[in-house]
Amino acid sequence: MERPMKDDALFEASQQAAIALLRATRVLPVVTVESAEQGVATARALLEGGLTAIEVTLRTPAALDAIAAIRQHVPGIALGAGTVVSERHIAAARTAGATFLVTPGTPPALAHALVACGLPVVPGAATPSELIALSSIGFRVAKLFPAAAIGGIALIRALQGPLADLLLCPTGGITETDASTYLAQKNVVAVGGSWMVPRAWIEQGNFAAVTDASRKASAL
Ligand code: 3PG
Repeated sequence: MERPMKDDALFEASQQAAIALLRATRVLPVVTVESAEQGVATARALLEGGLTAIEVTLRTPAALDAIAAIRQHVPGIALGAGTVVSERHIAAARTAGATFLVTPGTPPALAHALVACGLPVVPGAATPSELIALSSIGFRVAKLFPAAAIGGIALIRALQGPLADLLLCPTGGITETDASTYLAQKNVVAVGGSWMVPRAWIEQGNFAAVTDASRKASAL
């Protein structure tokens, strides 16, 4: 893939911003909510537990409203939209107030749209070829997804040689137990996961459990 952007300096700055926010949180909670209220309460619980970023997946009808409500009521959290798979998602997430974007996979048209959008972005990839394609465009960080299913720690170690310059945010199947092993890898800047925000806790309003699990996650 060719580099799609004229202003490389801006794109580089947005990638550095993505790395900085991942480095600050170390654990990126992947949150799926059924209402704006659930989104706000979850964001507050995460922040109270010491996690400084949230990825709200665009998988439910309430996701965009939740992003808008979190923007308004929990301004202290870095607010991302996840499961971004189209240009329409990019525009809608930005309008709702998302300040960074995460994709589960990144076909060429989506990669170009991500570069052009100017926001900090973490593009998803699962194979060396996909990672090389992203790197050749100028991406500095990628979400390795679904990390556990495609090889986990062994895959990440194997990528350290040929793709030493690309930072990874492995996500998918990571647990409280193995998150620290992922984080110890030199090409891992952060891990993503939903173990501190299971849908059952959110639906039951058990935000004390979210804060508790976030406290443990932020101490990793
Ligand atoms: C994602 O979209 O990143 C995943 O659903 C998160 O994976 P997990 O639920 O296995 O942590």
